[in-house]
Amino acid sequence: MRDQQPLSHTHTTELLDANFLESLLRQALPHKPFVLDVLPTVDSTNRYLLEKNSDDLHICLAEQQTAGRGRQGKTWASPFGINLYCSVLWPFTKNITQLAGLSLTLGVVVANTLEEYGVSSVGLKWPNDIFCENKKIAGILVEVVSEHTHFHKVVMGIGLNIALSKTFDATTFTIDQPWTDVASQVAFKPSRNELTLQLLKNVLHTLPLFEQTGFSAFQQDWLNKDILLNQSISVKTQKTAIDGIVRGIDEGGHLIVETPEGLRYFSSADVSINHPRST
Ligand code: BTN
Repeated sequence: MRDQQPLSHTHTTELLDANFLESLLRQALPHKPFVLDVLPTVDSTNRYLLEKNSDDLHICLAEQQTAGRGRQGKTWASPFGINLYCSVLWPFTKNITQLAGLSLTLGVVVANTLEEYGVSSVGLKWPNDIFCENKKIAGILVEVVSEHTHFHKVVMGIGLNIALSKTFDATTFTIDQPWTDVASQVAFKPSRNELTLQLLKNVLHTLPLFEQTGFSAFQQDWLNKDILLNQSISVKTQKTAIDGIVRGIDEGGHLIVETPEGLRYFSSADVSINHPRST
């Protein structure tokens, strides 16, 4: 049972507890060998794992990142001791095409974990942003290094704002879109260790299922949380910008957009909602 401490005005930092996390994760996953590194600081937990020469499941958590990576070359604000910066290296021994939809599946896992923790109305914005009250609360960056046709190092990075609002310093960090954090969405002080443990358990339980079924087992859960469905949007790819209405996602996790020329399918793009102009 979670200790429901009221939020205080002075925020005290709860550092990650490597022993707590490792022992409870091993209990929850007795048959799954893994390595866990909890670092005080690193440039990027994704970069750290991408350079590991490891055939094992390897998890990296950090108190802070000095060069946190976001999607599309953006940076991810990663101040010390208040959020979650987590990467999981997963040795994947199937054809790379079977990885389609992995990042969307992780979005479902993060959203479900937040709801289990007491955050309500969690939504997903294609491809893999997690939103609350129209503000971003978490993001996912999956990076892959292919060593052979059937051996890929997949690094799944998750950034989750837990108590960013308590210490956010706009002079040090810029975030180019509306954001929120867990502390603003629940009526108690969130525990970084408990949230991290719950999220990692959920991720590690989900990967074997994803390996068997691919995205199809998660498509409906994803659609249930889709915040773009039936919205008028602009899609920007490297080559083009198109306006249309979102009609969901397909089994491969592609965004389906209805345009005057018919349905278009996107595998990667930047999407923004077209808000009606006021007169
Ligand atoms: C996004 O742009 O929405 C993706 C953000 C992903 C951030 C996480 S934090 C842990 C991991 N390490 C990184 O450098 N990036 C990811």
